[in-house]
Amino acid sequence: MRVLVVGNGAREHAIAKALNDSGGELYGFMNAVNPGISRICRDYTVGDILNPGKVFEYSRKKGVELAVIGPEAPLGAGVADALEDAGILCVGPRKSPARLETDKSFARPLMQKYNIRGCPAFGVFDNKEDACSYIDDFGGDLAIKPAGLTGGKGVAIMGEHFDLDGAKKYVCEIFDTNMGKIPKVVLEERLVGEEFTLQGFVDGKTVVGAPMVQDHKRAYDGDVGPNTGGMGSYTDKGYILPFLTQKDYDDGLAIMRDTIEAVEKETGERYRGFLYGQFMATKDGVKVIEYNARLGDPEAMNILSILESSMVDVCEKIGAGSLGENDVSFKNNATVCKYLVPHGYPTNPLKNLEINVDEAKIKSAGAIPYYAAVREESGKILTSSSRAVAVVGVSDTIEAAEKIAEECMNYVDGNLIHRKDIGTKELIKKRIDHMRQIRG
Ligand code: AMP
Ligand code: GLY
Repeated sequence: MRVLVVGNGAREHAIAKALNDSGGELYGFMNAVNPGISRICRDYTVGDILNPGKVFEYSRKKGVELAVIGPEAPLGAGVADALEDAGILCVGPRKSPARLETDKSFARPLMQKYNIRGCPAFGVFDNKEDACSYIDDFGGDLAIKPAGLTGGKGVAIMGEHFDLDGAKKYVCEIFDTNMGKIPKVVLEERLVGEEFTLQGFVDGKTVVGAPMVQDHKRAYDGDVGPNTGGMGSYTDKGYILPFLTQKDYDDGLAIMRDTIEAVEKETGERYRGFLYGQFMATKDGVKVIEYNARLGDPEAMNILSILESSMVDVCEKIGAGSLGENDVSFKNNATVCKYLVPHGYPTNPLKNLEINVDEAKIKSAGAIPYYAAVREESGKILTSSSRAVAVVGVSDTIEAAEKIAEECMNYVDGNLIHRKDIGTKELIKKRIDHMRQIRG
């Protein structure tokens, strides 16, 4: 089957690899040449992934039968609509259902309207004055979010980033700079607990869940420093993380199923693609932090590295609306993903540095390398300002997978740094103790 992958990050490399491993004939539409993707494609092109007409034109020329759209921005730009309307099976929701991610002022009211569990107290505001009064009256810490897409960098938390006055200033900045390009702000109760990610494979009706993942947003060891796109993540053997429960998993998945049903009722369109549910396990149960209309980066790499089913088969069924509950299975292994990033990332990163990845050594150590925001030019691999390379260690326990991933950090040459603590025994114990304390 001729399959197009749209996007060129490490998540898309993981998607492309899984499709290639299951016999797909691959085509790539990328913003820049990802060396991991280009190498396994029958053909690829570099173009604007936000231009539905161009993505369609390339797909038509190559006779693409199935398209998998990696990032959120092309979904918001209507790439899935253009491909699906032309009869191409598509993994990635159309523009209207994708608002679950692209417009937070759509997602929260939807949960409220359809009485979906796990929604924190919130307000949506289209002017500064009302938003600032809500902050004054709320009487507790809030998360402040521009409604539109900000590349994961728009959310600020009172008590962490700002006090009350700082929060009001930030609200004004959001309106004054039209941050997120939707003139609205969402204010919501600050949730306290442990975060986890549930990724679902969704064919419009059926939502099949993957193992729980925990990402690490902060740049430095010990969960300090600025927020990043994610420095690394892990899954345990089975589906449940050591500090969470089967009930947390079941509740999260039930909330995602209810949300998918509500999206169809609200928009009149079926949601087909991946659904990323970000949750907080709190003392009052599982709460939704946000939804994304795609797989996570790095979380996609954890689950796709242990996917047992054929990715081509799973994606075809998502696009055709025929996915069964038992169609997606995973190997019974733990995974640890670690990202190598340029010095100074995310605030003041070094750029355009050459790196060398010893893929043979990484593979013989029991890990898988994925290329992220790097590009290949004249045979050299050069960094950009963002995350460069990820390595996923796979083993029986998180601890063993961590050791593999950590060893592999030595097999990438270049001026890059990574978090040494992700997946270590000490960090997992910290999470277990924290959750014990939260649950009382
Ligand atoms: P988002 O861009 O919505 O994923 O938010 C970025 C980060 O902000 C999340 O990973 C959480 O750590 C944090 N966050 C978002 N919403 C809340 C909330 N309501 N309470 C506490 N933390 C939050
Ligand atoms: N890991 C965070 C995200 O993909 O949004």
